[in-house]
Amino acid sequence: MGKKVTVVGAGFYGSTTAQRLAEYDIFDTVVLTDIIDGKPAGLALDLNQSRPIEGFETKVVGVTTGTNGEGYEAIEGSDVVVVTAGLPRKPGMSRMDLLEVNAKIVRQVAENIAKYAPNAVVIVVSNPVDEMTALAQLATQFPKNRVFGQAGVLDTARFTNSIAETLAVPVKSVKALTLGSHGDTMVPVPSRCTVDGKPLSELLPADKIEELVVRTRNGGAEVVALLKTGSAYYAPSAAAARMAKAVVEDSGAVLPVCAWVDGEYGISGVYLGVEAAIGATGIRHVVEDKLTDTELAGLKEAAEAVRAKQADVANL
Ligand code: APR
Repeated sequence: MGKKVTVVGAGFYGSTTAQRLAEYDIFDTVVLTDIIDGKPAGLALDLNQSRPIEGFETKVVGVTTGTNGEGYEAIEGSDVVVVTAGLPRKPGMSRMDLLEVNAKIVRQVAENIAKYAPNAVVIVVSNPVDEMTALAQLATQFPKNRVFGQAGVLDTARFTNSIAETLAVPVKSVKALTLGSHGDTMVPVPSRCTVDGKPLSELLPADKIEELVVRTRNGGAEVVALLKTGSAYYAPSAAAARMAKAVVEDSGAVLPVCAWVDGEYGISGVYLGVEAAIGATGIRHVVEDKLTDTELAGLKEAAEAVRAKQADVANL
């Protein structure tokens, strides 16, 4: 049967994600929804008119949804739903400053997903993403493997790009990894960073690597400060679209994502940035790999930081 994906929220992140998904040409339908009258329909029409030029057949359908779930019938039968609804940061804000306002939005969206697309895999990108992912799972009551969040693919891409620019090498020469939270307790993993197979630690001094790590951690804020309004969406949408692709293709791709951790790395009962194999059921399994003592300590610290915040979302 033809594949169907829904993107909730037709702002910058959502509309670019819809575009990337449509251009893959692997779906029958991409549904794009928002609460703003006309916006998703207008964007869908515009995207469909690009089909003869870009050469894809996927149909994009734009739907405005109401406060009582009106319009959500359009998402029925979705294999994947990407949740981008919510406010982005302004300069000087942390992702955590969005917690309360976005929790209201994500809860309402998640309840409608549970009602209209009860078999979908849900990928959350709204910020703060570690908490919004936990909330979406609570509000949908979906099995935990079917709800996960986007952060690590993006943070890893930011780290990779910085390494490639610093060493003036192609991005494809660089393998990098970030784990942990999408925030202050992000854990870049230098021990898993190589350039053409050589350990990064042999190519750059420790203080330079630390500089790149700090830049990665602040990667989103750096874009926000330059844009002045809104936050990043090109790299984020590329990350979310890749994750949705891995689901519908049931590819088993191992990607760093915000997944439910149940014993891996000695950590349990929390949504945390780890590597996982992604397929049609969402998270097939978390992939545990070797970390240095410092990296493992960082991951445990991240787990405790997000655990406390994730407990709070139950009441939001
Ligand atoms: N249902 C659907 N869409 C909603 C809802 C809702 N209940 N509430 C808000 N929206 C829509 C807004 O109308 C807006 O069009 O979400 C969209 C958000 O778009 P932008 O303001 O452009 O924000 P964007 O850059 O897309 O970021 C979205 O992703 O990276 C995160 O921090 C970012 O939380 C933010 C989210």
